[in-house]
Amino acid sequence: MKPETERLVDSLRQKEKIKVLFVCLGNICRSPAAEGVMKSIAEASGEGARWEIDSAGTGDYHIGDLPDRRMRVHASRRGLTLDHRCRQIKSYDFEEFDIIIGMDDSNLQNLHRLSPSVEAERKIAGMAEFFTDSRMGDAVPDPYYEGSEGFELVLDMLDDACNNLYRLVTPSY
Ligand code: 4NP
Repeated sequence: MKPETERLVDSLRQKEKIKVLFVCLGNICRSPAAEGVMKSIAEASGEGARWEIDSAGTGDYHIGDLPDRRMRVHASRRGLTLDHRCRQIKSYDFEEFDIIIGMDDSNLQNLHRLSPSVEAERKIAGMAEFFTDSRMGDAVPDPYYEGSEGFELVLDMLDDACNNLYRLVTPSY
């Protein structure tokens, strides 16, 4: 994890309410799945009310749509219902959320470009920073043009990263 991400995560520990926004390009595959995984972890731990978890895309191709059907099918096999409606990130999100997590380098570049202030930029982190093992790579790859294995890989990566993020913010977990 980058030192600035460690500081950001530290700052979340004291918060009564923790507001997390997951971001990808389309907001129909990776980020709504991350939202579903994180909500399920928070709810299972009995701390669901402490967390506000949402997702958004930097693109505007699918606004109003449910997550990609393939992602919904793979997630449902893990007991997750993905009912997020696709939305595009807006300037206010940089004020509203405490941490804004991009799935890959392109998402992160877009987030830095869209960020309205230096303070807002400090809220940006990469999902891969929370992987257990750096050998898992430096991004959650876009599964849109992949087969079933691509969707399963994304869900495995999100499960790993979300559990680690949750544990870092809630050390008693
Ligand atoms: P996501 O995947 O960023 O994980 O939601 C994508 C979904 C759709 C498109 C790109 C990426 N698209 O170009 O339509």
